[in-house]
Amino acid sequence: MKHRIGVIPGDGIGPEIVREAQKVLDAAGKKYDFELDYTEILMGGASIDVHGVPLTDEAIETAKSGEAVLMGSIGGDAKTSPWYQLPPNRRPEAGLLGIRKALNLFANLRPAYLYEELRAACPLREDISAAGFDMLIMRELTGGLYFGERHTVTENGLRKAVDTLEYNENEIRRIAVKGFDIARKRRHKVCSVDKANVLDSSRLWRAVVEEVARDYPDVELSHMLVDNCAMQLVKDPAQFDVILTENMFGDILSDEASMVTGSIGMLSSASLNETKFGLYEPSHGSAPDIAGQNIANPIATILSAAMMLRYSLDLDEAADAVEAAVRKVLADGYRTADIWSEGCMKVGTIQMGDLIAERV
Ligand code: IPM
Ligand code: MG
Repeated sequence: MKHRIGVIPGDGIGPEIVREAQKVLDAAGKKYDFELDYTEILMGGASIDVHGVPLTDEAIETAKSGEAVLMGSIGGDAKTSPWYQLPPNRRPEAGLLGIRKALNLFANLRPAYLYEELRAACPLREDISAAGFDMLIMRELTGGLYFGERHTVTENGLRKAVDTLEYNENEIRRIAVKGFDIARKRRHKVCSVDKANVLDSSRLWRAVVEEVARDYPDVELSHMLVDNCAMQLVKDPAQFDVILTENMFGDILSDEASMVTGSIGMLSSASLNETKFGLYEPSHGSAPDIAGQNIANPIATILSAAMMLRYSLDLDEAADAVEAAVRKVLADGYRTADIWSEGCMKVGTIQMGDLIAERV
C-alpha cells in the first residue's frame, strides 16, 4: 500500500530531524509492508527565502493533496534573522498559523508522558515524579486570540494595541467532542481548562463542554482555572488524563507540560481536522542555535511520525513498533545531549535515527 505524504522540513533543526523521522518511517514500511511517497513542501523561513512569503497557495494545495503532512519546525533567531525584519504577517510563524487555518486543523494533540528511563531528567521533586504522569493536552488550534482581529493604532499620541479573543459554540463543541472521544481511548477523564471567573469566552467554553459531556456519561469531567492548572502541572501532574483547552492556554500549558517531562525534545504533536488528515510536528521549535550540528534530538519528530501512522494512515501496528523502538533505545542507554545523564551513551541526531530504525 502506498501513501502520499507531504513533508515540511522547515527551518533550523527541522530538516535534520525530519530526515531521521523519514528513516524510521521507511524502516517501519519495510517491516509492515507499506510505502510512503513524500512530496517536499516549503514553509516558514525556507519559503520566504524562495518565494518571499512563508506559505504559498501551491504549498497549501500540495499539503491538501496528500493523506498527511510531516513537519520539522519553522522560524529563526528573531534577533538576527532577516525574516524578522518583515511585517508580522510575512514572518515564518504566519506560515504555520496559515496552514493550520487553511487545512482547518482545529484539534491539536500534545501528549506529555514521563518515561521511566528519563525520570532523572524530570525537574520536579522526587516524591512528585515518583508517581509518573501520562497526559494529553487537547488544544484548540484555529480560533481564539491567535486568529482574532488585531491592530495597533496611535490615538492622541498614545500607542494602543488590540487583540480579540472570540469563540463560537460550534468551534468549542467540535474540539470538546474530539477531547471526549480521545479520553475514551485513555483513562476516561477530561479536565477542561478555562478562565471562567473572568472571561465570557471561557464561560461559553464551560457551558458547551458541559453539554457535550452529557453524551459521554462514562467520561469524568472536571473544570479547572488556567492559573490553577499551571500550578497543578508542577504540583501533581499525575492527576491529569486529557486536558481540554483553548488556543492560547494550550500553547502555554503544553510548553510547561513538556518541560516537566525533562525535555521538550521528546514531545510529539498531531493537528487534526474532521477527516483523517493531519499535520504532525514536534512540540518544540526550530532551535536555530544548534541547527546543523548533529546534536538535535529527533525523537519528538519520530514520535510525531508514529502518531501519523496511527491517526491518518491507520497503521497502528507500525505506530506501536516505532514507539516501542524509542523506548528500547532509551532502555539501551542511548541519549542525545538534551536528555543525557551520567552513565548513558551520548549520540548525535543521525545515530539516534539509525538506532531507532534498527529497533523498529
Ligand atoms: C506552537 C508554537 C506556535 C503557536 C507559534 C510558533 C505560532 O508556539 O506550536 O506551540 O503558538 O501555536
Ligand atoms: Mg507554543
